[in-house]
Amino acid sequence: MPKVNTKLVAWEEVVEWCRKLAEVIEGSGWRPDIIVAIARGGYVPARLLCDFLDIHDLISIQILHWGKAAEITAKAHVKYPYTIDLSEKRVLLVDDIVDTGDSIIVAKEYIENHWKPQEIRVAAMQWISPVAKIKPDYFVDEVKEWIWYQYPWTRAEDTTNFFEKIVSEKKKEGKVEWTFEELVKEFKSWYGIDVGEAYYKLSFNRLLKTGVLKKKCGCKNTYIAV
Ligand code: ADE
Repeated sequence: MPKVNTKLVAWEEVVEWCRKLAEVIEGSGWRPDIIVAIARGGYVPARLLCDFLDIHDLISIQILHWGKAAEITAKAHVKYPYTIDLSEKRVLLVDDIVDTGDSIIVAKEYIENHWKPQEIRVAAMQWISPVAKIKPDYFVDEVKEWIWYQYPWTRAEDTTNFFEKIVSEKKKEGKVEWTFEELVKEFKSWYGIDVGEAYYKLSFNRLLKTGVLKKKCGCKNTYIAV
């Protein structure tokens, strides 16, 4: 059994979900004038929604919230506040997933107060209903059991963070020596997914670059948790 409930998401699934999301929005009879993507998770879904709904106006707002390896480390806030006039516009605010809902709540409140849109509605591919403080107006999947969606646009980042988590947790148990193969094996067993060799290599190199791991002197394939 994996330690963290994780779903490896394929690009094709994202396209299908966004196509469905567009159908739900269109079916409601409401049409946005402009889409606001929550950076960074909402970028790809927002762009696909523009395509499927034939919307040409797309801007974004960056909310900082999530920390490393599926852990919340900061209070959600707008990273680069700016003001524009959306008083004539119907706004669709888009994120990939509504988990705690904090990003959406902060973005929505900021847009309402500073950009003054005519109306704002929220869309996301996934809505984790038992933990979310807000229900999106439009969604594709209601998720009843918390799960980490390993979306394709965070594959390198998640793999690196998950590697780092494994190394630090195992260090507490006294394990400091690693080979690349050992770490990949642990990753697959902890998360129950396989992201492929290219991502493992890239993420392992990031750990070396950031000093989480360093080469053991005189040993070709062994690395030490710093
Ligand atoms: N971002 C915030 N919550 C998430 C989740 N459960 N899966 C993937 N990305 C997320």
